[in-house]
Amino acid sequence: MITPFLRWAGGKRWLINEINRLIDGHTFKNYYEPFLGSASIFFNINSSFDKVFLNDLNEDLIRTYQEVKTNVNDVIRFLKEFPNNKTFYYDVRKKHFKNNSKKAAQFIYLNHTSYNGIYRVNSKGEYNVPYGYKKNYIIDIDSLKKCSQKLQNTILSAGDFSKFIDFIQEGDLVFLDPPYTVSHNNNGFIEYNKNLFSLEDQYRLGELIDKIKEKKAFYILTNAAHKTIDNIFNKGDYKYTLTRSSTIGGKNAKRGSIEEYLFTNIKRKNDGNI
Ligand SMILES: C[S@@+](CC[C@H](N)C(=O)[O-])C[C@H]1O[C@@H](n2cnc3c(N)ncnc32)[C@H](O)[C@@H]1O
Repeated sequence: MITPFLRWAGGKRWLINEINRLIDGHTFKNYYEPFLGSASIFFNINSSFDKVFLNDLNEDLIRTYQEVKTNVNDVIRFLKEFPNNKTFYYDVRKKHFKNNSKKAAQFIYLNHTSYNGIYRVNSKGEYNVPYGYKKNYIIDIDSLKKCSQKLQNTILSAGDFSKFIDFIQEGDLVFLDPPYTVSHNNNGFIEYNKNLFSLEDQYRLGELIDKIKEKKAFYILTNAAHKTIDNIFNKGDYKYTLTRSSTIGGKNAKRGSIEEYLFTNIKRKNDGNI
């Protein structure tokens, strides 16, 4: 198992075994992952592909992958120069480095030493997550090198998920893990996340899936278990309800379990749950 070198909100490490059971016995042509985040699925997917296209809207994130892919030793060298303390954290947070490897090291360092690893910027586009006081921060050199190895021969891009519509071909696999628009808060109410990924975006994603199916390609979509989501994405293929343990947010945060949907047009070849 390759540990992703970033912490990421909505990361799907918990789903890797299920995905691998689902695709077991199938072969695909090219692989597309337009909502890359920490790439936990790509780093661990048990299949080989002709070409791999990895994308995310977050340009700083994609620039970081590009550096880890091409100059991982320089990124590690800079990371080793960054101590985990409050003064240095706030100092490095406001820096605009010119050197790309140093910029990537800054992104990885802030991701691991910040309060919760969430990527959040202010209206000027400046990263503004506070210091995390994490005592157990280590630079995971082994993971960085393994991820770098995995990224060789991949095609990285930054942009909207819809950019691949015209390129997807018969037999390709598209793994879709969008930000959730609807989620349950701790009172059981539904929160609509208008700014980050709107309901409109979910409908656009539904159209992408129609195109994928038209082209006889395959998709796997994970999304919140919610009626609205079911209405948009239940296209008569396979739907699984998955349960994962999670911290339910809000003032009275507590551990709980959350249900998520997985929609796919891949017919499972083995028995049992995915
Ligand atoms: C739930 S996360 C993906 C998590 C990933 N599967 C993992 O395991 O870490 C969703 C990602 O979609 C990206 N994103 C948001 N809007 C997007 C858009 N319109 N097109 C492409 N990516 C987008 C976010 O930057 C975020 O990294």
